[in-house]
Amino acid sequence: MTNVVVVGSQWGDEGKGKIVDWLSERADIVVRYQGGHNAGHTLVIDGTSYKLSLLPSGVVRPGKMAVIGNGVVVDPHALIAEIEKLAGQGVTITPDNLRVADNATLILSLHRELDAMREDAASNSGTKIGTTRRGIGPAYEDKVGRRAIRVMDLADLDSLPGKVDRILTHHNALRRGLGVAEVSHQTIMDELTSVAERVLPFRDTVWLFLDKERRRGARILFEGAQGSLLDIDHGTYPFVTSSNTVAGQAAAGSGMGPGSLGYILGITKAYTTRVGEGPFPTELKDEIGEFLGQKGHEFGVVTGRKRRCGWFDAALVRQSVATNGITGIALTKLDVLDGLEELNICIGYMLDGEQIDHLPASQGAQARVEPIYITLEGWKESTVGARSWADLPAQAIKYVRQVEELIGAPVALLSTSPERDDTILVTDPFED
Ligand code: IMP
Repeated sequence: MTNVVVVGSQWGDEGKGKIVDWLSERADIVVRYQGGHNAGHTLVIDGTSYKLSLLPSGVVRPGKMAVIGNGVVVDPHALIAEIEKLAGQGVTITPDNLRVADNATLILSLHRELDAMREDAASNSGTKIGTTRRGIGPAYEDKVGRRAIRVMDLADLDSLPGKVDRILTHHNALRRGLGVAEVSHQTIMDELTSVAERVLPFRDTVWLFLDKERRRGARILFEGAQGSLLDIDHGTYPFVTSSNTVAGQAAAGSGMGPGSLGYILGITKAYTTRVGEGPFPTELKDEIGEFLGQKGHEFGVVTGRKRRCGWFDAALVRQSVATNGITGIALTKLDVLDGLEELNICIGYMLDGEQIDHLPASQGAQARVEPIYITLEGWKESTVGARSWADLPAQAIKYVRQVEELIGAPVALLSTSPERDDTILVTDPFED
């Protein structure tokens, strides 16, 4: 028995929701360790659909503990709204099933405003990132700038005014530069005091809690958000999110040592998608891209934006296997490829006349690479709902085996529809 870290091995939206839900049934504790309410997934349990952005998936299952680690940026308004929405669906959230790290950074309204103002300004100059406008980036900036307000600060009303002054010195200078009204000290104090009572009951020393649980043998599931190519260091910078999304962050963002992380499961879509701006070597701006988008329902859960679609990029996923230390993958949405005559898989790139086997780090080079493809025969039969290898057409099995070989990691789970039972289990990550 081991712990499990779930990461997206592409640009997010790999179908983590279903797999995390499947695994959370087997876990005692589900931990988020990076990102914030920029993530989004829908869980369907016994016919009821739950939309989660900030709360860990385990929260909708009775008897599970959900933990928001220190690496997450917490918008208290979003937290309260999500708790209330779930209460309306009959899910009661109390400190018995949710803990929030006392050293997690808070997202304030001024972060959200700044995110949107920057994106609007950048839209005019053609340099926008295409963020979710949730204030994620500005909140992380304040964290590393050592002026953030953290969950525990809500309980210390004596030192809070000084912290508010500090964050406002920075933000009001920025706002003056952007030509928008300054924010008053009282506005922030009011914002913080209005949420304190609702947030503080959930606060905990998460590293300590997890350490005790680990020692007593609890099964811990770490739920990553976004994907490895959106990692602030390893992603397609600057078109990335503001946190480390690779598996190592599960340790730093929760306070549990890396030696206890266990099985690293990379959720991997059978083709590629990305939302927002940035390089995407295998993007298909043709009818096949349109086919994948329509058939795969490729629209963002949080923003409703249409996702860009393209062929499977094995070079990128191979890179993710390395940067995350992926033990095995969960391959999702294979059924979306049903009916295509031929399938391309990218195995490397041409850059300025040279063949390379990985995506270079430079922004300019990333924009110039041309994918090198191998072509496989498609399959006509439906793979929807397959629950064993025997249910799959031979060409589909060939595609999966080719993917495994090219990325250098085995398939542990194969998901063949949004239904939780439509999954081929090769290896149970908790038992590996
Ligand atoms: P931010 O995380 O809101 O700052 O957005 C930065 C980039 O990450 C943008 O390209 C977003 O579209 C992308 N992004 C953020 N969260 C997700 C997600 O959950 N899935 C896919 N892309 C995301």
